[in-house]
Amino acid sequence: MTHKPTILLTGGAGYIGSHTYVALVEAGFAPIILDDFSNSSPVVLERLQRICGQAVVCQRGSVADVALVQSLLERHQVAAVVHFAGFKAVGESVAQPLKYYANNLGGMVALLQAMDAAPCRTLVFSSSATVYGDPVRVPITEDFARSHTNPYGHTKLVCEDILASMRNANAALRTGVLRYFNPVGAHPSGLIGEDPLGEPNNLMPYVAQVAVGKREFLNVYGNNYPTPDGTGVRDYIHVQDLAQAHVAALQTLLRGQPSFTVNVGTGQGHSVLEVVHAFEQASQRPVPYRVAPRRAGDVASCYADPTLAQHLLGWRATRSLADMCTDTWRWQSANPNGYKKG
Ligand code: UFG
Repeated sequence: MTHKPTILLTGGAGYIGSHTYVALVEAGFAPIILDDFSNSSPVVLERLQRICGQAVVCQRGSVADVALVQSLLERHQVAAVVHFAGFKAVGESVAQPLKYYANNLGGMVALLQAMDAAPCRTLVFSSSATVYGDPVRVPITEDFARSHTNPYGHTKLVCEDILASMRNANAALRTGVLRYFNPVGAHPSGLIGEDPLGEPNNLMPYVAQVAVGKREFLNVYGNNYPTPDGTGVRDYIHVQDLAQAHVAALQTLLRGQPSFTVNVGTGQGHSVLEVVHAFEQASQRPVPYRVAPRRAGDVASCYADPTLAQHLLGWRATRSLADMCTDTWRWQSANPNGYKKG
């Protein structure tokens, strides 16, 4: 039997981490999970076991615990880390900035200390299109100026800078920075998906909860943007395509290729109303909506130029908006309360 490289997934029980776990198993890696379950459910582990047909290795704990992370890296001879763990609610970050700086920056620093000590020199990091702030034009290429409009976005930008300083100091460190656009959808089994705590902030989970009858209507935040139908345009990417991007990123780095920073999007923008209509089509349920004022901090249009990822990683997204809606609906209708029972 050939040796399977072990990959540590911090925040591996979360939405994107869990889908990446499955993709890594399918690609011949041995992923292990570190998660404190502050924004995820242990039920995910049973679901992953069902999908993959094998036991899941998971350590409950914090990425900020340097000794714990170092011992995991050493004990499992970890070849590379994917760092998903982090808080991600824009509004909450404005209200509680220290929570975001402490967790997102502290987690990154602690992880790098543990990796330095172990040693483990290969890291893939979950960054975000939020580092582009309000882009001057679309599509966005990686050389666009970076900025931030809230503490969450600031933490992603600073984490990218910390990685740049570390690469500068240590030529052996190789990093893959993935700037996610708008991840949506679910695994086609319907067993894992996005399970937001409380009222969803993001469009797709909100639309799904309206379609399943948990919420009465969707607020469409603004219909007077300079876009074809006046509603905001985003680059929605299927979480299965995003999971594949992580596999490609790890394969690229473990082959010895240099560090990279790439956009992970489809290159195609869709408006809020296009998403609503695609979801109605996929679910065969009505999605009532009302036009509400613009949401503070929103931009009119944000979508990627994904050419660099295709060039460097040999990866590109293949799933359509209809696929995203169909798979979200399968997950939502089979698990109306997410991972909670009843
Ligand atoms: N929208 C609505 N109603 C809702 C929710 C969203 O009309 O109830 C609209 C927004 O105004 C926007 C679009 O749907 O036009 C997408 O909104 P999301 O909240 O789903 O996504 P954002 O693009 O605003 O934010 C996402 C991530 C952030 C990240 C940002 C930039 O959630 O973490 O992309 O990369 F910072």
